[in-house]
Amino acid sequence: MPFLAAVLAALAATAHALTVRQTSTTITVDLAKTYQTIDGFGISETFQRANQMHALTPTLQRTALDLLFNRTSGAGFSILRNGIGSSPDSSSDHMVSIQPKNPGGPTSPPKYVWDGNDNSQVWLSTEAVKTYGLTTVYANAWSAPGYMKTNGNDANGGSLCGVSGASCASGDWKSAYANYLVQYLTYYRELGVQVTHVGFLNEPDLTTSYASMRSSGQQAADFVKVLRPALDRANFTGVKIACCDAEGWSSQQGMMGGLSAVDGMLGTITGHAYTSAPTSPINTKHPVWQTENADLQGAWTTGFASGSGNSAGLGLLWAERISDAITKANVSVYLYWVGVQGGATNSKLIRISDDKTQVVASKRLWAFANWSRHVRPGAVRVGTSGSPSGARCKSYRAGQGQAA
Ligand SMILES: *[C@@H]1O[C@H](CO)[C@@H](O)[C@H](O)[C@H]1NC(C)=O
Ligand SMILES: *[C@@H]1O[C@H](CO)[C@@H](O)[C@H](O)[C@H]1NC(C)=O
Ligand SMILES: *[C@@H]1O[C@H](CO)[C@@H](O)[C@H](O)[C@H]1NC(C)=O
Ligand SMILES: *[C@@H]1O[C@H](CO)[C@@H](O)[C@H](O)[C@H]1NC(C)=O
Repeated sequence: MPFLAAVLAALAATAHALTVRQTSTTITVDLAKTYQTIDGFGISETFQRANQMHALTPTLQRTALDLLFNRTSGAGFSILRNGIGSSPDSSSDHMVSIQPKNPGGPTSPPKYVWDGNDNSQVWLSTEAVKTYGLTTVYANAWSAPGYMKTNGNDANGGSLCGVSGASCASGDWKSAYANYLVQYLTYYRELGVQVTHVGFLNEPDLTTSYASMRSSGQQAADFVKVLRPALDRANFTGVKIACCDAEGWSSQQGMMGGLSAVDGMLGTITGHAYTSAPTSPINTKHPVWQTENADLQGAWTTGFASGSGNSAGLGLLWAERISDAITKANVSVYLYWVGVQGGATNSKLIRISDDKTQVVASKRLWAFANWSRHVRPGAVRVGTSGSPSGARCKSYRAGQGQAA
């Protein structure tokens, strides 16, 4: 047997009680029945949330970093989703572009501007990779800069000039946008941080007041045809293209037909869980990642089970959501929206107190930790039957950093 069979009760709090009360239950693990490989779990600190972490005292920075990435004292997250900026400035929570001004047209020499900080995402990524050994960095653009789009604005929807049905007086910006993304990855490579996955859309089914760019599956395919060779030319042959971070699962499924023409150029299919949940597999052979979900508006709670706070934020609910996404929708990754930030909602797992003297972990963090610490990248889900009533048992062959 090449791997240690690691049996994990997904809902550890429940399972603890079960080992005491229901010792007679037999759980059968079938190593010959294999499902998807798990790529990991994680969060994002985009829209200047990493700045909030970086502004903490060094002691609190370390506490927050440990809670996110440490495998013994924290969640042991293995994926960081960074934001590639598109905004002309850094006001409010904007992610500033590496080319804030139009260089003069799509074929003009680019005029990139790199501050070496990237809203503290450089600091965060460097810590995650170099201190904690994180190996998966997903760099994701919410939009192209405004001057590359039909609406002349990085916010409020609009499309990339040059994709099907989107022509602009200024010309075709597909190559310029591909080169722009390659340049962003190059800045990180120069710092010793390898971006492993790149996305060029976020919620392309939503027009909203912050960075947003519309795209159909066909329009995304038009761009992938340009992006893949641009990445390869710059020696990013190992970087996978992720697409398309649609707002909901069924919306992402709806884009798959249009993407079929570039199937061989895609690496990872990504979808969010807001407008519809991951309850069935997306029709693809690529790994599928659930890359954003959260209780965005609910009042902050640190509770685990019912009776301990606003129900949409409870740890047990999120443990079940992860379990459903893995078993029903075949996902390889489950990300929460934000890891650490201030404010009174459950949009994050860890809250910076209003006076900035504490970071407070919710039980949602520990629900994720129960998965993330044990089901490591590379773990393969295997057949399991006989879960005791009230529990969900799943088994995985060991992944990265675990005994073989
Ligand atoms: C993780 O936490 C443990 C326990 O607090 C500590 O000993 C270890 O140094 C931390 N690991 C890293 C990489 O900081
Ligand atoms: C890509 O790698 C090759 C071989 O190592 C090297 O000659 C070339 O300069 C590299 N190109 C870029 C853009 O880094
Ligand atoms: C599950 O995902 C894997 C890739 O991670 C894929 O090979 C497999 O075909 C998918 N299975 C289903 C039922 O979609
Ligand atoms: C699993 O979740 C429980 C409930 O919140 C928590 O007490 C425990 O520390 C978690 N276990 C791990 C290994 O993260």
